Amino acid sequence: MLKIELLDTSHNRKCFDCGNKQLNDYLQNTARQHLVKGMSRTFVLVDDAHRKDILGFFTLSVCEVESKLLPYRIAGKYPEQVPAVKLARLAVALKNQKCGFGKYLVSSAVEKVIAISESVGIIGLFVDAKDEGYGMKGRRIWDERTKDMG
Ligand SMILES: CC(C)(COP(=O)(O)OP(=O)(O)OC[C@H]1O[C@@H](n2cnc3c(N)ncnc32)[C@H](O)[C@@H]1OP(=O)(O)O)[C@@H](O)C(=O)NCCC(=O)NCCS
Repeated sequence: MLKIELLDTSHNRKCFDCGNKQLNDYLQNTARQHLVKGMSRTFVLVDDAHRKDILGFFTLSVCEVESKLLPYRIAGKYPEQVPAVKLARLAVALKNQKCGFGKYLVSSAVEKVIAISESVGIIGLFVDAKDEGYGMKGRRIWDERTKDMG
């Protein structure tokens, strides 16, 4: 069964390859340090049967967004800087890409951020997308999950 877990030292980070060196390096060398220091949280997708193998991961951190960058209809309602959560990193292992895992990870990130938003004031989840296409997909999942929240 697939599970999302907080990255820990039992996960095999060194074997992870998503085809992007920066993202591989981040998972292998930086993600745990940032997690231990409380700067971000990295979650990994694993299969129960082989839970050391990382199928994919995402990283969440807190960010401040300039309200002038928000959609025009809401920008004026906020002060200049507003608190939010950032989907700072997202990757799926090469051999597991195009199986829906990316979408599953984004969906899990959105669920976590909705849960956070019940106890901490944030205006939403922002994506540092390498290309607009994947960012738009994340936004559609967020919109779908939050449409009843007013
Ligand atoms: C981008 C990435 C996370 C997608 O993961 P994946 O498991 O292959 O994606 P999925 O199978 O869940 O695909 C979900 C949807 O996103 C689309 N998609 C996948 N990669 C995309 C990309 N780079 N740009 C736009 N759309 C993309 C798929 O076509 C699919 O669309 P559909 O639902 O309309 O069919 C993965 O390819 C990856 O790790 N790439 C290398 C690192 C990277 O580019 N990270 C993203 C940083 S923003």
